[in-house]
Amino acid sequence: MTTSTDNKMEKIVALCKRRGFVFQGTDIYGGLRGAWDLGPLGVALNNRIKSEWWKMFVEGREDMYGLDAAILMNAKVWEASGHVAGFVDPLVEDTETSERFRADHLLKDNGIDAEGMSLEMIDATILERGIKSPKGNPLSKARTFNMMFETRIGATAGPEGQVYLRPETAQGIFVNFKNVVDSMSPKLPFGIGQIGKAFRNEIAPREFLFRVREFEQMEIEYFVRESEWQEQFEAWRLAIWQWFDHLGLSRENIQEFEVPENDLAHYSKRTIDFEYNYPGKGFDELAGFAYRTDFDLQAHAKASGQSMEYVEGDGTKLVPHVLEPSFGVGRALTAVLCESYREDEVNGEVRTYLALPTHLAPYRACVSPLLKNKPELVEKARGVFMLLKKEFGNIAWDDNGNVGKRYRRQDEIGTPYCIVIDFDTLGENPDLLDTVTIRHRDTGEQERVAISELVSRLK
Ligand code: GAP
Repeated sequence: MTTSTDNKMEKIVALCKRRGFVFQGTDIYGGLRGAWDLGPLGVALNNRIKSEWWKMFVEGREDMYGLDAAILMNAKVWEASGHVAGFVDPLVEDTETSERFRADHLLKDNGIDAEGMSLEMIDATILERGIKSPKGNPLSKARTFNMMFETRIGATAGPEGQVYLRPETAQGIFVNFKNVVDSMSPKLPFGIGQIGKAFRNEIAPREFLFRVREFEQMEIEYFVRESEWQEQFEAWRLAIWQWFDHLGLSRENIQEFEVPENDLAHYSKRTIDFEYNYPGKGFDELAGFAYRTDFDLQAHAKASGQSMEYVEGDGTKLVPHVLEPSFGVGRALTAVLCESYREDEVNGEVRTYLALPTHLAPYRACVSPLLKNKPELVEKARGVFMLLKKEFGNIAWDDNGNVGKRYRRQDEIGTPYCIVIDFDTLGENPDLLDTVTIRHRDTGEQERVAISELVSRLK
């Protein structure tokens, strides 16, 4: 059964709330725009995405090092990086209600691509096309709005107390470049990977986890000699595609978008956006991949007075250039949910299930006794549950309702296997003593497996 893309996203958002994946942030107080909380299953899926990423890009490679830099950094970092001056979006206001909008989004809603437009061009287009606010009121002139959250440290009132919540994890890597080189003696080319929170005061957070104000990034700064950036760019491009394969995203749902020169970020000489085909929205950014040249290291060298030079084996000194694959965890989680959401028909009823890859599923398997009021079944099932829990950790126990209902519940949260302990397990049929039923999520097929073989089967 196909799922209409029109309301597929709404169904996924509803499932996320119903089944404990994602809740609106501060729900009981009416929520907070641009902030979402991960529920018990959401945090499990999110953690799995991050640990798979870490395994693939940090632990799985010889040329990568991990890092976890502080979110709060000396404000000079953001002056040097260009974020204080240039990390801005164009903003317009409804002149009657004072509601604020991203000018480029308003133009896009009117079928106009505002990428690369100056504020003057935006004003002229709004005037020429008679574009009004969503409430039909006139709009103010466009101005820039810096997206960094400002905060203060300590009790000082002066400018020395001013800090920012980092809008990208990347700068934590650049400011530690020298520390990693001095402590680990890596050979070029090498990279530093980091996973952490980033904050952006988005004018218009929207579309579930797609554009939020607090999110997580998984970023790599890969340091290369200038002469080899193109060759390494191609190698990383392939590695990024492999990551999406590992997430179970189908290739036809992903496309590369070469960012035109006039839209490149201030630090980039080349950027490819990897776009996912979100249901009801179409292709939009999932991850970014930029060639940042030596912009950041040079900027920090100049502003801090510290050398960012790397010394080659033969004594040659150079400031490395940087390739940056940058992934948003929330967008990966959204894409994984969209990709795995399915509906089919079982016994004349619609069945919803998440066809999550086993390495991402919140629970690898669910164990239950056929009947919960038969102590001998429950005892045997608890034994199987403890055996698997000890081995895998993420094993669910479910003895509520009948078996059919349990299957539906586990299908909806993407549990690949349901294991049922019945009277045959206890020896009612001597041939089946100490065997259990494994029911497969996607096909509904069932097989009989010996308890002694369960661990290896689930692996
Ligand atoms: N260090 C480079 C950098 O931050 P970016 O394209 O601005 O580049 C990288 O962000 C990734 O972070 C995006 O591809 C997206 O996955 C995620 N991201 C950026 N802003 C986001 C937001 N407001 N909400 C959710 N994810 C966001």
